Parts: sequence; structure tokens; C-alpha cells
Amino acid sequence: MAEQNNNNGDKSYANPGVYNFVDHDFDVLVVGAGGAGLRATLGASEAGLRTGCITKVFPTRSHTVAAQGGVAASLGNMGPDDWRWHMYDTVKGSDWLGDQDSIEYLCREAPAAVYELEHYGVPFSRNDEGKIYQRPFGGMTTEYGEGPPAMRTCAAADRTGHAILHTLYGQAIRHSAEFFIEYFAIDLIMDDEGACRGVIALCLEDGSLHRFRAHRTILATGGYGRTYFSATSAHTCTGDGNAMVLRAGLPLQDMEFVQFHPTGVYGAGVLITEGARGEGGYLTNSEGERFMERYAPSAKDLASRDVVSRAMTIEIREGRGIGPNKDHIFLHLDHLDPDILAERLPGITESASIFAGVDLTRDPIPVLPTCHYNMGGIPTNFHGEVISAKDGDPDTIVPGLMAIGEAACVSVHGANRLGSNSLIDLVVFGRSTAERCVEQLEPNGKHADLPKNAGAFALERLDRLRNADGNTPTAELRLKMQKIMQSNCAVFRTGEVLAEGAKLLKEVWEQGADIKVTDRSLIWNTDLIETLEYENLILQAVATMAGAGGRLESRGAHAREDYPDRDDEKWMVHSLHWVDDATHSVRSGSRPVHTYTMTDEVEYIKPKVRVY
Ligand code: FUM
Repeated sequence: MAEQNNNNGDKSYANPGVYNFVDHDFDVLVVGAGGAGLRATLGASEAGLRTGCITKVFPTRSHTVAAQGGVAASLGNMGPDDWRWHMYDTVKGSDWLGDQDSIEYLCREAPAAVYELEHYGVPFSRNDEGKIYQRPFGGMTTEYGEGPPAMRTCAAADRTGHAILHTLYGQAIRHSAEFFIEYFAIDLIMDDEGACRGVIALCLEDGSLHRFRAHRTILATGGYGRTYFSATSAHTCTGDGNAMVLRAGLPLQDMEFVQFHPTGVYGAGVLITEGARGEGGYLTNSEGERFMERYAPSAKDLASRDVVSRAMTIEIREGRGIGPNKDHIFLHLDHLDPDILAERLPGITESASIFAGVDLTRDPIPVLPTCHYNMGGIPTNFHGEVISAKDGDPDTIVPGLMAIGEAACVSVHGANRLGSNSLIDLVVFGRSTAERCVEQLEPNGKHADLPKNAGAFALERLDRLRNADGNTPTAELRLKMQKIMQSNCAVFRTGEVLAEGAKLLKEVWEQGADIKVTDRSLIWNTDLIETLEYENLILQAVATMAGAGGRLESRGAHAREDYPDRDDEKWMVHSLHWVDDATHSVRSGSRPVHTYTMTDEVEYIKPKVRVY
């Protein structure tokens, strides 16, 4: 083990030459301890692979804890269901941008993954027969969209993510995995052949620097919702893994597809689960009208999220918003039996009271579409292997690097994710990625030497920011970025507004040269960590804006008013974006959508007009 640092904050210590590393070797290193990261950690460690998991927050504080409404799987506990119907709904929900081999994998594996969670101890709510309780969610139907809504979303009241996260953490520590808690991953270690060899991380508690070497590095670092001013995402959702991938010269995929959840609490952004509408809640405008009947005559308030968020935005724009500024919508639950609310929606009953001052048994909740989820991210296949798309092969993988969860773009959600398909994505692909590692690795496999300069790139960045002596505080740049994303890259987009957004973002990006960090120490330096996180966010903000400006069609969550139609001929492709921080530029490309299934048990679902 290398010598420990003297983290005394002395300026002379800031020379990269004198930072020392603590070295660690693993077969598998997981970065992130949300649902996906914990499921992968559990899978790899129970198979005997030497597994490490580093996480910037305590595992049970990961953002999965905030997932409310449930996890989708065609168990059929509350009515007929079939994984093929789930697959159809997911393809349609994705607006035909999802990869159908991956979607088949997800929906086919979902029931087994949920039963596995049940056996691990997740305290699911129960129906009258004692089976896992399931509720309807937006876009989930039966009979390939022809039948009534599917009761497919398995719930633990409205605290499903909390229940899953705590259970998975309990399971993960049963095996030999080593956890590095409150460690911030700075950058990947890439070798000259383009393989990933591990990660450099900073221990927040004592300021020591760690070089993790692994045969497989699995990024499970979550989304980047905090590029926006109002988001349901935790403040920790800064897409750290995505940014590490960009800095390694690799692309991110489909970044223009940002999901706005219809029901964030007005003013606070806090999530009110779609399960509220699943249990019978509905939206009204200032005229008291249940307007969703006009936009989605069949599914109404349970249309998919992009459809509902657009409808709400149109109502507000056309002057039918609520309140003195006519700028929000009401969600009604006051007609439901208070006992049902107490049993199935206790969490949002509390949130509505705390964040909106509303007793939802009596009054409607003021809500607004709020940034919730990133469909785009690190391109992968359904084994979790990261795709570089280099050398003309759209499916080339990056040796040693994997990604799962919201950080990844598998792509099962395509242009729009269906509610409750996120939690199932975490556990199904957390498991498949661990299985891939088990297939390919021998426990305690020998490591080749690291390149001589391994870690130098991360140290240079750390040192530069730790000593950043400009005039602009990080918080100022972050706020500017968030406001630009909120106003120039929202539910509806036009070329003009996006071009302005790109210009404004570039100015903020360039102002990074003048960034100011006040605290020079390495111990619990939140000023430094927020600056590292801001650098991660701005890269993803510019990729998102570039993606939105470049995609000249409307599809799923990407609604271009100047290109209102979906254009399958030109645009049924995944967009790719490489971001160069040195030149402040973005390069874009594309790779084909997988228009084939995993097995011949199901046929490719051909594109058609998407109505609910
Ligand atoms: O509305 C919700 O409970 C959120 C679920 C999801 O994003 O999958």
C-alpha cells in the first residue's frame, strides 16, 4: 500500500508530483451504490469475484431512495398480463428509439428480478390474496395497447425505491464486497489501448487519494438532473460517471431526451408519484376541466409522461393555468378514500403537506412538469458493456468499462421512459452486468501493470480546481447553467431557443476559467466537490443542448415546435456526442437503433403513430 497523504491543505502540497495514492486491486469495481450499483455489487461478490463499491454518499442515501410509485413487471397479480405486452408498451413509450433486443431482455427478465427482490426481503404491499400489490402506471397497457390499463407496477406503498435500496444494501454486505463510502470518483484510468483500468477517487473524510485498479469498472453513477433549475433529482445527481466517460474521449448517447415528470410540486420540484394518478388522481386546469381527456382520449391522465407534460404546458401557455400567475396545474386526490391514501400513498401525503402546505384529503396539489430523468447517457449493450462506436462499428465495446442504471443508455427507454421502468432497469441490468463479469472473469485475476502516468489526468484536474483562484464562485456558474437549461431546453423546443441556449451555455462554460474555490484543503471540502460536480454537469448540459439543437424532429420527450413530426427515415438513430472541454466544442454523430429482437420468440415491433 502506498504512503498515506499529508492532507494539511498546505499550498506546496498542491503539486501533483507530491500527491500519493493508496492502491487497491479488484476484479470488479462498482462506482455508485444506488439500486443498479448495489445489485451489480451483490451479483459479482456473491459469485466470489473480488468486488469493491465506491460511493459518494452513504448507500441508503443514493437517489434510488426517492423512487416512489413502483417497479414494472408483468406478474399478473391483479389482472392478466404478459411480458410481451410490457415489451410492446416500452417500445411504443420509447417512440421507437429503444433497442428492441434490450427491451426484450428487460421485459422478459422483469418478473424474475422482482421475485428475487421479494425473496431478498423487499416489503412489497400486498393484494387481498397476499401477492405483491400492483398498480396502473402511464403507458402500461394490456393486449398490445388494445386492452385496458395494465396493473403492472409493483409497489411498496409509495416508497418502493426506499424499500428496494435498503434491502439491496443489506444483501450486498452479506458477501465479501468492500465498500468505500463517501469517496468521490474523479476520473477513469484509461490505458494506451483505450481500455479502462480503474478509477481515481478522493476519500472525502480524510482527503486521501485512491487508485482503484479493476478488470471491470461498472459506472452506476445515476443521472444528471441537476443541470436543471427545478428537478426531482437529488442534489447529488450530477452525472459524475457520464462526465468521466466524456473526459475519456468517449461519447454519450441520446442526450437530448430529458424526461419532465408531470407532477413535481409547484415551486419545490419535489416528486408526487405517478402512482397518485394510478390510484385514481386526475389533473385539472383553471376552468376545473379534466383536460387530459382532450389530449389522450383513451389513457387520459395515465398517458405516457411526455404526453401529459406537453398537455399541461399547453394548458398553461393558453392561459388555463392556475394561480395568480396562471402557471401551474392542480392534481386532485381529494375524492379518494382517506384510508386508501394512508395505505398506498403515505409518502406523498406527507410531501404535499410539507412542500405545498396542502392536506391532500381535502385540497388539490399544485404541480408542474419538472425535470425527472435522463433517457440519454453512456451507450451500452444489455450486458452493460460500454459502446465506443469507434472504427466504423456502431457496437464496438470499450474493454473493461461497463455502465448501468440512469447513467447508462442501454437503450431501453429510447426517447421517453415509462414510469416504473426505471427501477426494473436498475435491477435487471445490475444483475446482467454482474453475470457478464462472472462469465468473463476468474476470481482474483492478476492485473497487468498500470501505465506509468495512471492517475495523472485526474490529479491535474483535482489540483487545478483545488487551487482555482478566479473571481466567479462555482454556485454562480451552476445557477446560470441551470437557468439556461430550464428556459432554453425544456418541454417544448425551437431551433432559435436552442441556438440561444447553446450560445449562453458556451459563455458559462468558458467562464469556468475564472472559477473560484475558496477552501484549499482536501478534507470534507464541499467547495471543491461541488466544483468537480459542476464541471461534470456543464459537459452534460452542453451535450444535451447540442443534441436537442441537432435533432430536427419531434420524438418522445424531445418536442420541436419547428419540426413537430417524428421522422423515422432520417432520425430513427441514436445520437452520439463527444465533448471537448479544452476547445469548448461538441462533435455529434449517430449509430443505428437495434431494429431486431433478442430471440425469435417475439417479432420486431414496427413503428406506427403513437397515440394514447
Ligand atoms: O412517479 C413515480 O413514482 C416515479 C417513478 C419513475 O420515475 O419510474
